[in-house]
Amino acid sequence: MNMILRLEREDDWRAVELLTREAFWKEENIEKIGIGCDEHYLAHTLRTAPEFVPELDFVAEVDGNLVGNVMYSMSYVLKPDGTRHDVLNFGPLSVLPEFQGKGVGSALMRHSLKTAARLGYGAVIFFGHPTYYPRFGFKEAREFGITTCKGNNFPAFMAMELIYGDLDGVTGTYHESPLFNVDAEKAKEYDTQFSQKCHL
Ligand SMILES: CC(C)(COP(=O)(O)OP(=O)(O)OC[C@H]1O[C@@H](n2cnc3c(N)ncnc32)[C@H](O)[C@@H]1OP(=O)(O)O)[C@@H](O)C(=O)NCCC(=O)NCCS
Repeated sequence: MNMILRLEREDDWRAVELLTREAFWKEENIEKIGIGCDEHYLAHTLRTAPEFVPELDFVAEVDGNLVGNVMYSMSYVLKPDGTRHDVLNFGPLSVLPEFQGKGVGSALMRHSLKTAARLGYGAVIFFGHPTYYPRFGFKEAREFGITTCKGNNFPAFMAMELIYGDLDGVTGTYHESPLFNVDAEKAKEYDTQFSQKCHL
């Protein structure tokens, strides 16, 4: 497979949202949130948010077609003394279903994490599949003394230092962009711009 990783361009936006929608769409979500997924709308809104990190917005291209994307945004740990420690958050990470399991997601993760470290970002904290991300070096955020904004810990809540010691002495609650609390109604409205999914 001939794969290129490069930064997303504005003329990729639609294709990236389409592949994100394909990657995340689940029929069972329709009952829960009224739509198969909202990550394509999240990608759409994140790009113009002040927290968005364009220098880490990578796409994977195979034979001229976009098959994967990863996006990063700034988030922070609120320490007990009221000060903030900035960290990266990532997501959505999406690979077109027919290209999953071929190393595209891993290539996007490794490339973006390496680039983030080279650019001087200190750490990454996020929510994701607890069996997938440890291979890139992620550990449970609990090990760093960092909890969710509600004070919780669970295996899907993970963290990794990019600069050794960046999270030393950094304990507290984690806060990501408010855009991650996706407005389901707005996501549904936005989704009408995409072709209907066949449910039969
Ligand atoms: C998760 C995802 C990004 C991984 O990308 P990918 O290109 O399929 O993954 P790779 O080929 O690099 O790696 C394959 C490995 O990922 C694992 N994997 C894939 N999806 C997984 C999931 N939902 N949970 C746990 N592990 C998963 C596979 O089991 C495989 O493991 P192995 O190497 O031990 O056999 C991709 O499957 C995807 O887009 N899924 C739908 C959207 C999603 O869930 N995004 C991530 C949100 S945290």
